[in-house]
Amino acid sequence: MNKLVICDHPLIQHKLTFIRDKNTNTKDFRELVDEVATLMAYEITREMPLDTIKVETPIMETEAKVLSGRMLGLIPILRAGLGMVEGILKLIPAAKVGHIGLSRDHETLQPVEYYINLPTDAQDRQLIVIDPMLATGGSAIAAINSLKKRNCEQIKMMCLIAAPEGVKALHAAHPDVDIYVAALDERLNEKGYIIPGLGDAGDRMFGTN
Ligand code: PRP
Ligand code: URA
Repeated sequence: MNKLVICDHPLIQHKLTFIRDKNTNTKDFRELVDEVATLMAYEITREMPLDTIKVETPIMETEAKVLSGRMLGLIPILRAGLGMVEGILKLIPAAKVGHIGLSRDHETLQPVEYYINLPTDAQDRQLIVIDPMLATGGSAIAAINSLKKRNCEQIKMMCLIAAPEGVKALHAAHPDVDIYVAALDERLNEKGYIIPGLGDAGDRMFGTN
């Protein structure tokens, strides 16, 4: 309950610094986010269950481990979550991908759901909700509310950067959802941006503003 994992591997921290840098261009930003998503996928799958099978090596028969076949589902929150999907699929190519479209009303900071499309068997899968930014937590909470309303129970949250305010809100709303982040930043500013953060993740990913 209320688990927060900070993925502090040096490679992740190094790449995150250049993701934060305002002088990093759109192409490099995308590539770095993709690479960090792959590295974070390694962390988030650390507890995946294993089965034991028999295998014949050239020398003898032995027992060895394979993934137990537990099915995964990736749920990027549009838009910015899309930028992390391919990086995770490099490690987990069989995962299915559902989408939840949410945008923050820039006045109220409240998330508005405009799209949802999930794998038909989403409720049987271990789901990973993906969004680079956990700011107020409103978008993540709304996405997870939507999933739980559709009987999905096994859910983890993966972000690049979180604000303490977002972690607190998400833990309060969904204590069963483990949160994986590359960095826990200082706080939110008055516009709901993470300080120091990386700016607007969707705009930097897609070259809009
Ligand atoms: C950003 C970000 C998260 C959300 C985080 O999306 O990608 O989804 O804000 O903020 P919160 O924790 O306060 O809800 P945005 O609403 O800007 O939409 P976009 O991805 O389409 O740019
Ligand atoms: N969404 C972003 O893209 N960046 C922030 O800092 C906060 C919310």
